Amino acid sequence: MSFDSSLYRRLADWAAARLLLTGKPETAVTVRFCGGPGWLRGILLHEVSSAGAVDLSIKIGALRLRNPILAASGTFGYGLEFAHLVDLNRLGGFVTKGLSREPIEGAPAPRLYPTASGMLNAVGLQNVGVRAFVAEKLPVLRKFDTATIANVFGYTLEDYVEVIRVLEDAEGLAGYELNVSCPNVKKGGMQFGSDPALVAEVVGAARKAASKRPLWVKLSPLVTDIGLIARAAEEAGADAVTVANTYPAMAIDFRSGKSRLGNPTGGLSGPAIKPITLRLVWETKKAVKSPIIGLGGVETVEDVLDYLAVGASAVQVGTASFTDPRASQRLVEALTNVLFEAKTFTLNEIRDKFLAENG
Ligand SMILES: Cc1cc2nc3c(=O)[nH]c(=O)nc-3n(C[C@H](O)[C@H](O)[C@H](O)COP(=O)(O)O)c2cc1C
Repeated sequence: MSFDSSLYRRLADWAAARLLLTGKPETAVTVRFCGGPGWLRGILLHEVSSAGAVDLSIKIGALRLRNPILAASGTFGYGLEFAHLVDLNRLGGFVTKGLSREPIEGAPAPRLYPTASGMLNAVGLQNVGVRAFVAEKLPVLRKFDTATIANVFGYTLEDYVEVIRVLEDAEGLAGYELNVSCPNVKKGGMQFGSDPALVAEVVGAARKAASKRPLWVKLSPLVTDIGLIARAAEEAGADAVTVANTYPAMAIDFRSGKSRLGNPTGGLSGPAIKPITLRLVWETKKAVKSPIIGLGGVETVEDVLDYLAVGASAVQVGTASFTDPRASQRLVEALTNVLFEAKTFTLNEIRDKFLAENG
Protein backbone atom coordinates (compact mmCIF):
# COMPACT_ATOMS: atom_id res chain seq x y z
CA MET A 1 0.00 0.00 0.00
CA SER A 2 1.42 3.39 -0.88
CA PHE A 3 0.91 6.55 1.12
CA ASP A 4 0.52 10.10 -0.02
CA SER A 5 3.16 11.54 2.34
CA SER A 6 2.17 15.16 1.68
CA LEU A 7 -1.40 14.37 2.69
CA TYR A 8 -0.20 12.80 5.91
CA ARG A 9 2.15 15.71 6.52
CA ARG A 10 -0.75 18.13 6.13
CA LEU A 11 -2.92 16.06 8.44
CA ALA A 12 -0.13 15.92 11.00
CA ASP A 13 0.37 19.67 10.82
CA TRP A 14 -3.34 20.23 11.17
CA ALA A 15 -3.58 17.86 14.15
CA ALA A 16 -0.58 19.44 15.85
CA ALA A 17 -1.96 22.93 15.28
CA ARG A 18 -5.34 21.89 16.65
CA LEU A 19 -3.74 20.35 19.70
CA LEU A 20 -1.80 23.55 20.31
CA LEU A 21 -4.84 25.76 19.79
CA THR A 22 -7.41 23.81 21.79
CA GLY A 23 -5.04 22.34 24.35
CA LYS A 24 -7.46 19.41 24.38
CA PRO A 25 -5.72 16.34 23.05
CA GLU A 26 -8.86 14.24 23.41
CA THR A 27 -10.58 16.28 20.72
CA ALA A 28 -7.72 16.23 18.28
CA VAL A 29 -7.35 13.80 15.46
CA THR A 30 -3.71 12.88 15.45
CA VAL A 31 -1.45 11.44 12.84
CA ARG A 32 1.65 9.75 14.08
CA PHE A 33 4.61 8.86 11.95
CA CYS A 34 7.14 6.24 12.68
CA GLY A 35 10.04 4.72 10.83
CA GLY A 36 13.38 5.93 9.53
CA PRO A 37 14.23 8.38 6.81
CA GLY A 38 13.09 7.45 3.35
CA TRP A 39 9.71 6.03 4.23
CA LEU A 40 6.73 7.12 6.15
CA ARG A 41 4.02 5.24 7.94
CA GLY A 42 0.91 7.10 8.97
CA ILE A 43 -1.44 5.96 11.66
CA LEU A 44 -4.67 7.83 12.00
CA LEU A 45 -5.88 7.95 15.58
CA HIS A 46 -9.37 9.25 16.06
CA GLU A 47 -9.18 9.89 19.73
CA VAL A 48 -6.48 10.73 22.14
CA SER A 49 -3.02 11.96 21.42
CA SER A 50 -1.28 10.69 24.52
CA ALA A 51 1.62 12.97 23.64
CA GLY A 52 -0.55 15.75 25.01
CA ALA A 53 -0.93 13.77 28.21
CA VAL A 54 2.76 13.00 28.79
CA ASP A 55 3.59 14.38 32.20
CA LEU A 56 7.03 15.98 32.12
CA SER A 57 6.68 17.80 35.42
CA ILE A 58 9.63 17.62 37.77
CA LYS A 59 10.56 18.84 41.22
CA ILE A 60 13.73 20.72 42.03
CA GLY A 61 13.68 20.75 45.79
CA ALA A 62 10.32 22.25 46.73
CA LEU A 63 9.85 23.88 43.33
CA ARG A 64 7.63 22.07 40.84
CA LEU A 65 8.28 22.82 37.16
CA ARG A 66 6.03 21.96 34.21
CA ASN A 67 8.91 20.23 32.45
CA PRO A 68 12.72 20.01 32.69
CA ILE A 69 13.52 22.60 29.97
CA LEU A 70 14.42 26.15 30.97
CA ALA A 71 15.91 28.97 28.94
CA ALA A 72 19.33 30.04 30.25
CA SER A 73 20.45 33.34 31.73
CA GLY A 74 21.81 35.93 29.32
CA THR A 75 20.44 34.20 26.25
CA PHE A 76 16.73 34.89 26.79
CA GLY A 77 16.73 38.55 27.88
CA TYR A 78 14.09 39.16 30.55
CA GLY A 79 11.81 36.62 28.88
CA LEU A 80 9.57 39.36 27.47
CA GLU A 81 11.73 39.85 24.38
CA PHE A 82 10.93 36.24 23.40
CA ALA A 83 7.24 36.24 24.31
CA HIS A 84 6.11 36.87 20.72
CA LEU A 85 8.13 33.89 19.47
CA VAL A 86 7.98 31.40 22.32
CA ASP A 87 4.97 30.35 24.38
CA LEU A 88 6.53 31.07 27.77
CA ASN A 89 3.73 29.12 29.45
CA ARG A 90 4.97 25.90 27.84
CA LEU A 91 8.53 26.09 29.18
CA GLY A 92 9.69 24.60 32.45
CA GLY A 93 10.76 28.16 33.13
CA PHE A 94 13.47 30.63 32.24
CA VAL A 95 16.35 32.36 33.98
CA THR A 96 16.60 36.13 33.63
CA LYS A 97 19.63 38.03 32.44
CA GLY A 98 22.02 38.49 35.39
CA LEU A 99 20.81 41.24 37.73
CA SER A 100 23.10 43.56 39.63
CA ARG A 101 22.64 46.18 42.32
CA GLU A 102 23.07 49.05 39.83
CA PRO A 103 22.52 49.08 36.05
CA ILE A 104 25.55 48.01 34.00
CA GLU A 105 26.21 49.25 30.46
CA GLY A 106 28.34 46.31 29.51
CA ALA A 107 31.34 45.66 27.31
CA PRO A 108 32.34 47.43 24.08
CA ALA A 109 31.30 45.90 20.73
CA PRO A 110 31.73 43.42 19.22
CA ARG A 111 30.25 41.27 21.92
CA LEU A 112 29.72 38.01 20.07
CA TYR A 113 31.99 35.99 17.82
CA PRO A 114 31.17 32.61 16.25
CA THR A 115 33.78 29.87 16.71
CA ALA A 116 33.97 26.27 15.52
CA SER A 117 30.88 24.59 17.01
CA GLY A 118 30.45 27.37 19.50
CA MET A 119 30.19 31.03 20.31
CA LEU A 120 32.35 33.48 22.19
CA ASN A 121 30.71 36.31 24.11
CA ALA A 122 31.81 39.29 26.13
CA VAL A 123 28.62 41.08 27.04
CA GLY A 124 30.05 42.44 30.26
CA LEU A 125 26.95 41.52 32.28
CA GLN A 126 24.94 44.40 30.85
CA ASN A 127 21.59 44.72 32.63
CA VAL A 128 18.99 47.24 33.73
CA GLY A 129 19.74 46.77 37.42
CA VAL A 130 17.57 45.00 39.97
CA ARG A 131 15.27 47.93 40.77
CA ALA A 132 14.35 48.60 37.13
CA PHE A 133 13.78 44.87 36.69
CA VAL A 134 11.30 44.84 39.57
CA ALA A 135 9.57 48.05 38.47
CA GLU A 136 9.43 47.52 34.69
CA LYS A 137 9.88 43.86 33.76
CA LEU A 138 8.33 41.82 36.57
CA PRO A 139 4.83 43.37 36.38
CA VAL A 140 4.59 42.23 32.74
CA LEU A 141 6.20 38.85 33.43
CA ARG A 142 3.64 38.12 36.14
CA LYS A 143 1.01 37.72 33.41
CA PHE A 144 2.72 34.55 32.21
CA ASP A 145 2.30 31.19 33.86
CA THR A 146 5.97 30.29 33.84
CA ALA A 147 8.65 29.87 36.48
CA THR A 148 10.84 32.97 36.41
CA ILE A 149 14.21 32.46 38.07
CA ALA A 150 16.17 35.64 38.79
CA ASN A 151 19.89 35.34 38.04
CA VAL A 152 21.84 37.35 40.62
CA PHE A 153 25.45 38.52 40.60
CA GLY A 154 27.74 40.99 42.31
CA TYR A 155 31.33 42.00 42.86
CA THR A 156 31.14 41.89 46.65
CA LEU A 157 29.19 39.81 49.16
CA GLU A 158 27.09 42.87 49.97
CA ASP A 159 26.12 43.27 46.27
CA TYR A 160 24.62 39.76 46.16
CA VAL A 161 22.73 40.29 49.41
CA GLU A 162 21.35 43.65 48.33
CA VAL A 163 20.06 42.32 44.98
CA ILE A 164 18.26 39.47 46.77
CA ARG A 165 16.89 41.85 49.39
CA VAL A 166 15.24 43.94 46.66
CA LEU A 167 13.88 40.83 44.90
CA GLU A 168 12.49 39.37 48.13
CA ASP A 169 10.01 42.25 48.32
CA ALA A 170 8.71 41.59 44.81
CA GLU A 171 5.99 39.19 43.66
CA GLY A 172 6.24 36.84 40.72
CA LEU A 173 9.54 35.00 41.05
CA ALA A 174 9.97 31.25 41.46
CA GLY A 175 13.54 31.36 42.75
CA TYR A 176 17.06 32.73 42.50
CA GLU A 177 20.12 31.56 40.63
CA LEU A 178 23.39 32.88 42.02
CA ASN A 179 26.07 33.40 39.39
CA VAL A 180 29.34 32.87 41.26
CA SER A 181 31.57 33.19 38.17
CA CYS A 182 32.26 36.84 39.03
CA PRO A 183 35.46 38.44 40.29
CA ASN A 184 35.42 39.35 43.98
CA VAL A 185 36.87 42.87 44.00
CA LYS A 186 37.66 42.62 47.72
CA LYS A 187 39.76 39.49 47.14
CA GLY A 188 41.98 40.80 44.33
CA GLY A 189 39.53 39.83 41.57
CA MET A 190 39.54 36.11 42.38
CA GLN A 191 36.33 34.44 41.18
CA PHE A 192 33.87 33.65 43.98
CA GLY A 193 33.21 30.32 42.31
CA SER A 194 36.79 29.09 42.22
CA ASP A 195 37.28 28.70 45.96
CA PRO A 196 35.10 26.53 48.27
CA ALA A 197 35.48 28.96 51.21
CA LEU A 198 34.36 31.93 49.10
CA VAL A 199 31.46 29.92 47.69
CA ALA A 200 30.39 28.96 51.22
CA GLU A 201 30.58 32.60 52.27
CA VAL A 202 28.54 34.04 49.40
CA VAL A 203 25.97 31.21 49.37
CA GLY A 204 25.59 31.43 53.16
CA ALA A 205 24.93 35.17 52.99
CA ALA A 206 22.54 34.78 50.06
CA ARG A 207 20.72 31.95 51.86
CA LYS A 208 20.07 34.21 54.85
CA ALA A 209 18.76 36.96 52.58
CA ALA A 210 16.64 34.56 50.47
CA SER A 211 14.21 33.33 53.09
CA LYS A 212 11.21 33.22 50.74
CA ARG A 213 12.43 31.32 47.72
CA PRO A 214 14.63 28.47 46.48
CA LEU A 215 18.27 29.30 45.88
CA TRP A 216 20.21 27.72 43.02
CA VAL A 217 23.94 28.25 42.66
CA LYS A 218 25.40 28.41 39.13
CA LEU A 219 28.92 27.02 39.26
CA SER A 220 31.94 28.09 37.30
CA PRO A 221 33.42 25.32 35.12
CA LEU A 222 36.90 26.73 35.66
CA VAL A 223 37.76 24.68 38.74
CA THR A 224 39.92 21.67 39.48
CA ASP A 225 37.33 19.76 41.50
CA ILE A 226 33.74 20.78 40.83
CA GLY A 227 32.47 18.27 43.41
CA LEU A 228 34.28 20.18 46.15
CA ILE A 229 32.70 23.46 45.09
CA ALA A 230 29.24 21.93 44.70
CA ARG A 231 29.48 20.43 48.21
CA ALA A 232 30.46 23.82 49.63
CA ALA A 233 27.38 25.35 47.98
CA GLU A 234 25.13 22.55 49.23
CA GLU A 235 26.40 22.77 52.80
CA ALA A 236 25.94 26.55 52.79
CA GLY A 237 22.26 26.12 51.93
CA ALA A 238 21.87 25.87 48.14
CA ASP A 239 18.70 24.06 47.07
CA ALA A 240 20.21 23.10 43.70
CA VAL A 241 23.32 23.65 41.62
CA THR A 242 23.43 24.77 38.00
CA VAL A 243 26.36 23.28 36.05
CA ALA A 244 27.84 25.31 34.44
CA ASN A 245 28.73 28.74 33.09
CA THR A 246 30.84 29.54 29.99
CA TYR A 247 34.56 28.72 29.65
CA PRO A 248 37.03 31.63 29.53
CA ALA A 249 38.41 31.69 25.99
CA MET A 250 39.67 34.02 23.27
CA ALA A 251 39.65 34.56 19.53
CA ILE A 252 42.05 36.91 17.76
CA ASP A 253 42.88 38.22 14.32
CA PHE A 254 46.63 37.61 14.03
CA ARG A 255 46.84 40.08 11.12
CA SER A 256 45.69 43.05 13.14
CA GLY A 257 46.78 41.59 16.46
CA LYS A 258 43.34 42.45 17.83
CA SER A 259 40.79 40.45 19.75
CA ARG A 260 37.70 39.45 17.78
CA LEU A 261 35.72 40.86 20.71
CA GLY A 262 35.63 44.30 22.27
CA ASN A 263 37.30 42.72 25.31
CA PRO A 264 40.52 40.69 25.07
CA THR A 265 38.77 37.52 26.27
CA GLY A 266 35.23 36.14 26.53
CA GLY A 267 33.22 33.06 27.47
CA LEU A 268 32.84 30.03 25.20
CA SER A 269 29.43 28.37 24.90
CA GLY A 270 27.48 26.14 22.51
CA PRO A 271 27.94 22.56 21.24
CA ALA A 272 31.74 22.79 21.60
CA ILE A 273 31.45 22.76 25.40
CA LYS A 274 28.82 20.07 25.79
CA PRO A 275 31.11 17.04 26.31
CA ILE A 276 33.19 18.98 28.86
CA THR A 277 30.19 20.18 30.83
CA LEU A 278 28.48 16.78 30.61
CA ARG A 279 31.40 15.35 32.55
CA LEU A 280 31.17 18.16 35.11
CA VAL A 281 27.50 17.30 35.70
CA TRP A 282 28.42 13.68 36.28
CA GLU A 283 31.24 14.66 38.68
CA THR A 284 28.79 16.91 40.52
CA LYS A 285 26.21 14.12 40.69
CA LYS A 286 28.74 11.92 42.49
CA ALA A 287 29.47 14.66 45.02
CA VAL A 288 26.09 16.07 46.10
CA LYS A 289 22.54 15.00 46.84
CA SER A 290 21.05 18.31 45.67
CA PRO A 291 19.29 18.48 42.31
CA ILE A 292 21.47 19.53 39.37
CA ILE A 293 20.45 21.68 36.42
CA GLY A 294 22.76 20.95 33.48
CA LEU A 295 23.61 23.36 30.69
CA GLY A 296 26.21 23.70 28.03
CA GLY A 297 25.57 23.17 24.33
CA VAL A 298 22.06 21.77 24.60
CA GLU A 299 20.63 21.86 21.06
CA THR A 300 18.86 18.57 20.43
CA VAL A 301 16.61 16.27 22.43
CA GLU A 302 19.52 13.81 22.59
CA ASP A 303 21.55 16.51 24.38
CA VAL A 304 18.71 16.87 26.89
CA LEU A 305 18.57 13.11 27.46
CA ASP A 306 22.37 12.91 27.85
CA TYR A 307 22.29 15.48 30.64
CA LEU A 308 19.37 13.76 32.35
CA ALA A 309 21.14 10.41 32.04
CA VAL A 310 24.26 11.58 33.89
CA GLY A 311 22.16 12.91 36.75
CA ALA A 312 20.69 16.32 35.90
CA SER A 313 17.09 16.92 36.99
CA ALA A 314 16.60 19.62 34.37
CA VAL A 315 18.51 21.43 31.63
CA GLN A 316 18.84 24.97 30.41
CA VAL A 317 19.09 26.06 26.79
CA GLY A 318 21.47 28.94 26.08
CA THR A 319 23.32 29.57 22.82
CA ALA A 320 20.81 27.46 20.87
CA SER A 321 18.30 30.32 21.27
CA PHE A 322 20.59 32.53 19.16
CA THR A 323 20.25 30.31 16.09
CA ASP A 324 16.65 29.33 16.79
CA PRO A 325 14.77 31.61 19.20
CA ARG A 326 12.17 28.84 19.62
CA ALA A 327 14.80 26.26 20.61
CA SER A 328 13.58 25.85 24.20
CA GLN A 329 9.94 25.31 23.20
CA ARG A 330 11.01 23.02 20.35
CA LEU A 331 12.89 20.88 22.87
CA VAL A 332 9.84 20.66 25.16
CA GLU A 333 7.84 19.38 22.18
CA ALA A 334 10.63 17.00 21.10
CA LEU A 335 11.01 15.58 24.60
CA THR A 336 7.25 15.08 24.85
CA ASN A 337 7.24 13.22 21.53
CA VAL A 338 10.26 11.08 22.41
CA LEU A 339 8.70 9.98 25.66
CA PHE A 340 5.37 9.34 23.97
CA GLU A 341 6.93 7.26 21.23
CA ALA A 342 9.40 5.43 23.45
CA LYS A 343 7.04 3.25 25.39
CA THR A 344 10.03 1.20 26.43
CA PHE A 345 11.80 3.65 28.71
CA THR A 346 11.26 6.36 31.28
CA LEU A 347 13.62 9.14 32.25
CA ASN A 348 14.44 7.29 35.45
CA GLU A 349 15.35 4.18 33.48
CA ILE A 350 17.74 6.16 31.27
CA ARG A 351 19.44 7.59 34.34
CA ASP A 352 19.57 4.27 36.19
CA LYS A 353 21.08 2.58 33.17
CA PHE A 354 23.90 5.13 32.92
CA LEU A 355 24.58 5.04 36.64
CA ALA A 356 24.58 1.22 36.67
CA GLU A 357 27.04 1.13 33.77
CA ASN A 358 29.32 3.77 35.25
CA GLY A 359 28.58 3.85 38.96
C1 LIG B 1 25.52 36.14 25.38
C2 LIG B 1 25.53 35.37 26.68
C3 LIG B 1 25.25 36.06 27.87
C4 LIG B 1 25.27 35.36 29.09
N1 LIG B 1 24.95 36.02 30.25
C5 LIG B 1 24.90 35.33 31.43
C6 LIG B 1 24.51 35.98 32.64
O1 LIG B 1 24.15 37.17 32.67
N2 LIG B 1 24.52 35.24 33.79
C7 LIG B 1 24.87 33.90 33.81
O2 LIG B 1 24.85 33.27 34.87
N3 LIG B 1 25.22 33.26 32.65
C8 LIG B 1 25.25 33.94 31.49
N4 LIG B 1 25.58 33.29 30.32
C9 LIG B 1 25.94 31.85 30.36
C10 LIG B 1 24.78 30.95 29.92
O3 LIG B 1 23.66 31.09 30.77
C11 LIG B 1 25.21 29.47 29.89
O4 LIG B 1 25.67 29.10 31.16
C12 LIG B 1 26.32 29.19 28.88
O5 LIG B 1 26.15 29.96 27.71
C13 LIG B 1 26.44 27.71 28.52
O6 LIG B 1 25.26 27.23 27.94
P1 LIG B 1 25.03 27.15 26.33
O7 LIG B 1 26.21 26.41 25.77
O8 LIG B 1 23.72 26.42 26.17
O9 LIG B 1 24.97 28.55 25.85
C14 LIG B 1 25.58 33.96 29.10
C15 LIG B 1 25.85 33.30 27.90
C16 LIG B 1 25.83 34.00 26.70
C17 LIG B 1 26.12 33.24 25.43
